[in-house]
Amino acid sequence: MRSRKVLLVIGFLITWTYVTYYILLRSTGTHMTYFQKQKLVHLGDQAREQSQHSRNLNRNVIEFLKIKYLEHTQQQISSTTPRISIVAAEISNELVDQQQQEQIGEEDPSKSRKIPTQTYLSNGEPVIPILVFSCNRITVKKCLDNLVQYRPSVEQFPIIVSQDCGDEPTKEVILSYGNQLTLIEQPDLSDIRVLPKEKKFKGYYKIARHYGWALNTTFQVGFEFVIIVEDDLNVAPDFFEYFLGTHKLLKQDSSLWCVSAWNDNGKAAVVDASRPELLYRTDFFPGLGWMLTRDLWSELSVKWPKSFWDDWIRHPQQRKERSCIRPEISRTRTFGKIGVSNGLFFDKYLKHIKLSEDFVRFSKINMTYLLKDNYDNTFLRQVYTYPIVTYDELRRNLIAADGPVRIQYTTRDQYKRMTRLLGLMDDFKSGVPRTAYHGIVSFYYNKRRVHLAPNANWKGYDLSWS
Ligand SMILES: *[C@@H]1O[C@H](CO)[C@@H](O)[C@H](O)[C@H]1NC(C)=O
Ligand SMILES: *[C@@H]1O[C@H](CO)[C@@H](O)[C@H](O)[C@H]1NC(C)=O
Repeated sequence: MRSRKVLLVIGFLITWTYVTYYILLRSTGTHMTYFQKQKLVHLGDQAREQSQHSRNLNRNVIEFLKIKYLEHTQQQISSTTPRISIVAAEISNELVDQQQQEQIGEEDPSKSRKIPTQTYLSNGEPVIPILVFSCNRITVKKCLDNLVQYRPSVEQFPIIVSQDCGDEPTKEVILSYGNQLTLIEQPDLSDIRVLPKEKKFKGYYKIARHYGWALNTTFQVGFEFVIIVEDDLNVAPDFFEYFLGTHKLLKQDSSLWCVSAWNDNGKAAVVDASRPELLYRTDFFPGLGWMLTRDLWSELSVKWPKSFWDDWIRHPQQRKERSCIRPEISRTRTFGKIGVSNGLFFDKYLKHIKLSEDFVRFSKINMTYLLKDNYDNTFLRQVYTYPIVTYDELRRNLIAADGPVRIQYTTRDQYKRMTRLLGLMDDFKSGVPRTAYHGIVSFYYNKRRVHLAPNANWKGYDLSWS
């Protein structure tokens, strides 16, 4: 992509040079004043200079492509990578200058950044913006179509699309929604300098920079809550209702720090399709369509990391034993395959996550069961009253009694083996299994609620489990 841009620039320079020469040659035959001749000489010098410049650029590009090609054919990655970086840096520096000039020319503060400033409705309910993160995928349209279609109130849920990367086709798609949304553009498109061995992670650095800027910009308006959506997410019909029903929990319960629309174990085979209203607490930060408060952002924004913000946020230093709310059936689903994270994982796992199709009036449901004291008194206590079964008994339906059951694990390896058998996610972040609450992973299997749970005398997450 970048090399095509560079070639275009070179093509333009070369054409310009020849046109200049041509005009000069044609006009030397006619009469000229001394002053005109001087001017022509000067122009000729400039043209030669530009031509030299474009030849240099040309050489750089050819060298770049050569090295790149050799890298692919001969796999001499270790020896050629530094050279690629140097040549690429030379080229990209020129492009960055150009981009910045274009931006200065275009800067029009009245055009972007007119985020709606109303933070509460007249009935006292909070205005909750949906902050959509976009870069260069025109498929952001699929995400925006959903949001616009299901949005119950334009006033209460302003859509703010924050674009990084400066990609024009994507920007056009976003702008085509007119006043249905607000576009803000991440202003710092400069390259991020990383260690050579981190080069392949550069995308994660840019994402973290983008998140930091966009959240700061949005919360500065004074909103109490913001919902974050990435450009590759479809949302469910009751996506807005879900957050409308749960946002108060974040204020009431300081042991909660997010509401997420995502169930990491949300594959159709392991959720109870008849319970779309069912919600859980989880110690695992799910992301992928989530809400946070202004207070949390002021806590995190001052130490926001330069990369891998999602792993960082899951670390005990950030999490501080707080939990999120997550649904039994996901209210988001990712359709993005090409992106920073890998496609293999998408095919194997993400594409099987079930997106809820029911419409649950969450705002009319009594949510107090999710507050920590209530939840720990009922959920935690109940789990340890359920009978312990083995995987084999569960799979072969050999359990006499109806009702929920428990499968016990004590070691990391037991946990890994069991989740693989059951078709659940088997990984940990900062020692926390996906969807776990107090180590308990709850799912649905063979028409039965199952809790994969540690011993009753569980001592907390072990950071060394990964
Ligand atoms: C957000 O703004 C605050 C206050 O201006 C600043 O201290 C912080 O570094 C900013 N954070 C990010 C991630 O930009
Ligand atoms: C919600 O349920 C709890 C019991 O779980 C009850 O004490 C409370 O009064 C209910 N709240 C409303 C508004 O109905």
